Amino acid sequence: MCLREVSRKLSKRISCGVLAWGVAISSLSGAPSKKEAPSVPHPPVDSSKFVGSDTCQGCHQDMYKQFETTPHWRTMEFKQKDRQGCEACHGPGADHVNAGGGKGTMFIFQGVSAREISTRCLKCHEDGEEHSNFTRSQHNVNQVSCIDCHSPHHARESQYLLTAREPVLCISCHAEVRADFSKTFHHRVNEGLIQCTDCHNQHGGFLTRQLRSTAAQDQICLKCHTDKAGPFVYEHAPVKTEGCVSCHVPHGSANPWLLKRSQVNLLCLECHTFTIDAGAPSIPSFHNQAAKYQACTLCHTQIHGSNFSNVFFK
Ligand code: HEC
Ligand code: HEC
Ligand code: HEC
Ligand code: HEC
Ligand code: HEC
Ligand code: HEC
Ligand code: HEC
Ligand code: HEC
Ligand code: HEC
Ligand code: HEC
Repeated sequence: MCLREVSRKLSKRISCGVLAWGVAISSLSGAPSKKEAPSVPHPPVDSSKFVGSDTCQGCHQDMYKQFETTPHWRTMEFKQKDRQGCEACHGPGADHVNAGGGKGTMFIFQGVSAREISTRCLKCHEDGEEHSNFTRSQHNVNQVSCIDCHSPHHARESQYLLTAREPVLCISCHAEVRADFSKTFHHRVNEGLIQCTDCHNQHGGFLTRQLRSTAAQDQICLKCHTDKAGPFVYEHAPVKTEGCVSCHVPHGSANPWLLKRSQVNLLCLECHTFTIDAGAPSIPSFHNQAAKYQACTLCHTQIHGSNFSNVFFK
């Protein structure tokens, strides 16, 4: 948990740096970003139509007060008008103010596509490893936008402007996953020990299932189960090639140790048969499955790899 805090602070600092840097560079040169264009282009802005957030304050007193307490207050420091305060998200307000306020003259986050919403937010948030892959995420592809999980004005959580805390937030849509974490053996996500976002990047990434990887680009499981990382003198091949999920389910299971099969021998025999074939080595013929040779890991105890035994005895 401690590590998590450290890495969070680090990534936060980096993303702040990038934000400030991005703003500074673009305000100096107006140079286009080197990144590939987002799927929805940022709408063109007429800079003469910005009126400044103080004008909004006049009529939206409560909204303004609330805004002052959120992290977005920092945008008031930004020099570019289209990145400053209320109008950074709602667009230029001149037409709205000239009409004396009222509905229908401002950009609101309703009646527009999820992509259009996220593109507004990504204007400032697309830099940094955490968010830069949002457009390729299953969430984006399936019309889940930033404001399904975050709310700039009506957040229910004190951190990260979230509409709900984890795992309630995630499970509100992923009902099928809720059952996984209620099984006898499970990662203690409901109990708050670890979080969905320890393993998944809800903002998208390069791996399937929006999985995170460790800093060393290893599978995410090794972030916490460091003792399984090796390297070992004698590696058990599938741990490295097919990964932890070749034997374990990640969320929860009726089987001890989150194993995919109810009995250890059934698991091993999926790859290690009695007959010699091209796959894993066949098991010795003295391994009679009627009796003591069923409990494979009673003898092959170091099943994740060993420095002393090529058959993983210790
Ligand atoms: C002259 C007063 C006035 C000013 C100045 C003003 N507003 Fe409004 N605004 C209103 C009123 C009145 C409404 C309608 C409120 C309602 O009916 O709920 C409104 C509605 C809105 C809405 C919702 C629009 C909709 O279609 O539902 C947004 C967003 C908004 N204002 C943002 C802003 C921003 C940003 C600024 C500053 C650029 C601003 N307002 C300045 C009076 C004002
Ligand atoms: C970071 C982006 C962002 C900023 C900055 C922002 N808004 Fe909003 N605003 C939104 C979103 C998103 C919604 C839709 C409701 C929601 O998800 O909270 C919204 C909704 C509104 C509404 C509709 C009524 C409501 O309560 O939802 C009004 C009015 C409004 N904003 C005014 C303002 C004013 C005034 C400011 C500046 C003091 C401001 N907004 C700053 C993103 C922003
Ligand atoms: C499926 C839900 C979900 C969606 C969609 C989502 N977020 Fe998040 N976001 C979260 C959660 C949960 C956190 C809490 C922190 C964590 O553990 O990563 C978070 C954290 C953040 C943070 C603060 C921490 C950090 O990583 O810098 C920012 C900024 C953020 N999100 C912006 C966005 C933007 C911008 C979008 C849209 C492009 C978006 N989020 C879409 C759930 C979501
Ligand atoms: C004008 C640039 C800008 C836009 C547009 C913008 N943000 Fe932000 N956002 C910021 C800045 C700056 C911070 C504060 C970063 C910090 O202090 O680390 C921030 C912080 C956040 C955080 C983190 C809150 C926390 O507690 O750390 C979330 C979540 C977030 N924004 C979501 C959104 C969403 C959702 C949208 C679109 C509705 C959006 N932002 C639009 C600039 C922007
Ligand atoms: C507003 C609804 C909604 C919320 C909230 C939500 N998701 Fe999703 N999520 C979806 C949809 C829709 C998909 C794409 C369809 C699918 O795979 O179920 C998806 C896809 C995913 C995937 C990829 C699955 C795959 O098969 O590739 C992961 C992982 C995921 N979400 C994790 C999370 C996490 C973690 C949270 C909480 C931080 C969360 N989701 C919150 C709706 C949501
Ligand atoms: C211990 C790490 C871990 C945690 C914690 C975790 N997941 Fe997963 N999740 C995975 C892995 C690994 C897969 C891919 C499984 C596979 O490919 O066989 C996955 C798959 C998924 C999928 C794709 C569909 C499926 O069931 O295979 C969704 C959706 C998902 N997770 C959502 C969530 C949500 C929501 C939470 C929190 C309630 C969560 N996960 C917590 C590791 C985790
Ligand atoms: C954020 C840290 C974290 C991550 C990431 C993580 N685990 Fe765990 N895991 C734990 C903790 C803590 C326990 C201890 C079980 C408990 O007390 O709830 C555990 C327990 C286990 C167990 C033993 C379960 C039992 O029944 O005793 C297995 C097997 C396991 N994890 C496999 C995995 C796999 C596979 C992955 C990757 C998909 C993974 N873990 C990712 C923290 C993590
Ligand atoms: C070849 C199958 C296989 C693979 C691949 C595998 N495991 Fe295991 N794992 C097992 C078996 C079998 C057990 C039960 C051990 C026993 O019976 O004593 C186990 C037990 C565990 C345990 C609980 C007991 C302990 O040793 O701490 C954890 C945690 C664990 N595995 C994590 C992982 C992680 C993380 C990975 C990926 C790096 C992984 N496993 C890959 C077969 C496997
Ligand atoms: C996903 C397939 C897979 C599963 C499941 C699996 N193994 Fe393996 N195992 C392999 C492969 C592949 C090798 C080694 C290939 C090589 O190095 O030539 C191996 C090697 C071994 C070796 C070393 C044999 C030698 O001659 O080097 C032993 C012992 C072993 N496994 C035992 C087990 C046990 C016990 C289990 C069940 C807990 C198990 N394996 C589950 C694929 C698997
Ligand atoms: C009572 C202890 C014991 C149990 C239980 C046991 N083994 Fe073994 N296993 C051995 C011994 C002894 C060897 C031979 C070691 C050697 O050659 O140095 C061996 C060797 C192996 C080898 C290596 C064969 C080769 O040609 O390199 C595999 C694979 C293997 N066992 C798989 C399994 C599987 C799968 C199970 C469970 C179905 C299992 N073992 C249960 C003691 C056991």
